[in-house]
Amino acid sequence: MMMDWLHSVVLLLVLLAVSGLPQEGTYEGIQDGTQGPLVKKQELKANRDNLKVSESSLQPQQIHISLGDSSRDMTVMWATEGYDSSVVEYHTGDRTQLQRAEGQTMKLDDTNDAGLKHLHHVTLRNLGPKTKYFYQVRGQSDDTLSESYSFTVPPVHDGNTHMFMVYGDLGTQTNNIQFLLQEALNEKYEAIFHIGDIAYNLSSKNGEIGDKFLRQIEKVSARIPYMTVPGDHETDHNYVHYRHRFSMPNLPWPMPSNKLWYSIDVGPIHFIMYSTEVFFYDDENTEAMLNWLKEDLDKANSERSARPWIIAMGHKPMYCSVDDINADCSRSNPVVRRELEDLFYAEGVDLIISAHQHLYQRTWPVYKKRATQNNYRHPSAPVHLIIGTLGLHYMVDKANNEGGQWLAFSMDEPGRESFGRLKVYNATHLSWEVRECLNNRVIDTMWINQPYHRPFTQPRVFFPNPLGEMGQEWMDDQTESYGLESFLGLRGKHYGDDYQTKLTVLFCVFIICLLGLIARKKVLSFVRIICLRKEPCNKIKAGLSPGGANV
Ligand SMILES: *[C@@H]1O[C@H](CO)[C@@H](O)[C@H](O)[C@H]1NC(C)=O
Ligand SMILES: *[C@@H]1O[C@H](CO)[C@@H](O)[C@H](O)[C@H]1NC(C)=O
Repeated sequence: MMMDWLHSVVLLLVLLAVSGLPQEGTYEGIQDGTQGPLVKKQELKANRDNLKVSESSLQPQQIHISLGDSSRDMTVMWATEGYDSSVVEYHTGDRTQLQRAEGQTMKLDDTNDAGLKHLHHVTLRNLGPKTKYFYQVRGQSDDTLSESYSFTVPPVHDGNTHMFMVYGDLGTQTNNIQFLLQEALNEKYEAIFHIGDIAYNLSSKNGEIGDKFLRQIEKVSARIPYMTVPGDHETDHNYVHYRHRFSMPNLPWPMPSNKLWYSIDVGPIHFIMYSTEVFFYDDENTEAMLNWLKEDLDKANSERSARPWIIAMGHKPMYCSVDDINADCSRSNPVVRRELEDLFYAEGVDLIISAHQHLYQRTWPVYKKRATQNNYRHPSAPVHLIIGTLGLHYMVDKANNEGGQWLAFSMDEPGRESFGRLKVYNATHLSWEVRECLNNRVIDTMWINQPYHRPFTQPRVFFPNPLGEMGQEWMDDQTESYGLESFLGLRGKHYGDDYQTKLTVLFCVFIICLLGLIARKKVLSFVRIICLRKEPCNKIKAGLSPGGANV
């Protein structure tokens, strides 16, 4: 009797395990060799002409734009050698409807002996979403009129896909700048995010390098909003070059040294752009930033149905697995992680992108050094990315395996300069691709599927309900990623850290056993009939019986 009871439980467990076997998922970090559009040689050559320094001291150069206080405002900046006023003329295609906006001119003297001194700043407000604008910048005289550029204001979220280019650690000596610029113009990026370490350094050679960099990227930065956060290479002289040469949303200009962080909404995304350098260079500002982050994230969560995605970017990573004992993220308790991880977890930040380490790494959803799962379906913690590969020319960070459990993918090969392409499709799906500059091949792909955007401290409560959507999602979850095998820890240590799922599985097993117990007579006679008839069952039976032959 006891033996038969055991058989029925084993049978049920086997059934459960078979139904729960993980299947090939499209949401894993698959790699593929998709070939993107190749850049023509002539175009690369033409780009170099942009680097020529203009002769007239009042001729605007280094034109770059960034999102203003909202994604419907655009700030235009440029530099001139001599003093001039700051004017932008713009229209939407009909020159007779020309509009004019005036702004400020500031002088940058500090560590800028060899750089252009006069910086210009004009904000165009209340622009039409998804509208293309043409503009020229100028000073007093008609002779100072720049060439005409255009930009498109990001659409509001109404079923549009939003695409962004993301990288850090880009300097004037990065090998593939021309490729990068061509890629930015070929595709429909709504903004470019440069996550710190800009030009190496903006202030180097008394400002010459900053000028050189801004001329190098002008072809793109005059057309696509160029969004930044400071890295360690921007910290010298109290960030003076960074604060003057760039202007970011919801900040005065020049940006104040005690508030180099901001947030901006684009479509269904709330971008949080924070400074990790406060923890290392100006820690008197740490508290102010943490307070601001908390306030901003609370607000973002209160508007989560309108903007489900929260994506945070800061220069230094919380997680890395590199052979660099001096790196904060290599330490057992990194400063950045200690200061920010709990907050970002509690506020349900979906994705954290950083740079600084010159390599590419992707983690599983991770909290307190533990991967909550090893896929990206309904993550229970933030996902971390390091995209510092454009700095490979300057230094290569070698990956090690210290990341073990939470490290999902790593690429540290010298020469493989690459950038990130972030695409947000809708409230539940985003994709991330890392593409190699040399040939535009995809090095890594990740899909995040998150239907439950929420502070991760709030449990994802759902019990199987075959009638409802939640029940269906749960079933998907089981077949894709969990299942009994992983639950029992048979598939490696990545699995089975999702307590809700564990509880749910336990609950199911309990219910099934209970049902089995209630109807045990029927079940047992059923099992007996099968076992009498079927050869394999007899073998199992023989194998399980004490004293029986081992199979
Ligand atoms: C660039 O900045 C870094 C970090 O502040 C500093 O260590 C380095 O000396 C600077 N390089 C130059 C050439 O100024
Ligand atoms: C969101 O986008 C993904 C990827 O394009 C698609 O598979 C999914 O069906 C979309 N979901 C909704 C609700 O539109």
